[in-house]
Amino acid sequence: MDWLRLYAKKIMRKTNTINFKKTLGKFTTGVTVVCLKNKEVIYGKTVNSFNSLSLKPPLVLFSLGNYSSSIKNFLKSEYISINILSKKQKDLSINFAKTKPNFKKIHFKYGLYDTPIIDGCIGNLECKLLDTIKKGDHIIFINKVLSVYNNDKLMPLSYYNSKYY
Ligand SMILES: Cc1cc2nc3c(=O)[nH]c(=O)nc-3n(C[C@H](O)[C@H](O)[C@H](O)COP(=O)(O)O)c2cc1C
Repeated sequence: MDWLRLYAKKIMRKTNTINFKKTLGKFTTGVTVVCLKNKEVIYGKTVNSFNSLSLKPPLVLFSLGNYSSSIKNFLKSEYISINILSKKQKDLSINFAKTKPNFKKIHFKYGLYDTPIIDGCIGNLECKLLDTIKKGDHIIFINKVLSVYNNDKLMPLSYYNSKYY
């Protein structure tokens, strides 16, 4: 027991930005693109902080940097779509991580709540924004899920150690 305690003391390092980012990179996630339409303009951001929050009611969350160029539009939004990318959609993840994504080749459909739904995803959710929580340099968005679609034939895009799999 004492030996184990000593060993952990030897390997643990105080947090800094570099080792914090690197350690979080060891957590494999899926990749989503969160979209909204405001006055006929579509906004989309690549997000891997997406997670389930509650079953009853069905709630999900994600967080966005308060420095993001689209943050004001996300804060103003009522309905959003969360598009879970398939293995074939790495290019979409790269595109929507840009400040000015290219919308030309993106095939959007519109859902029951008129949110922009990306074609060919492994899953799509339409959500109503319920609440936001500001913590550190990010804002947590808490959303009620209103409609869903999923495709059992596709495989998910994964993100691990800053690489796609
Ligand atoms: C795989 C991946 C996952 C990402 N996940 C998040 C996330 O969960 N939250 C976030 O704020 N930014 C995330 N980003 C970064 C954003 O997509 C975007 O680059 C950042 O918000 C800056 O946007 P801006 O240039 O429009 O300000 C992720 C980027 C990648 C490539």
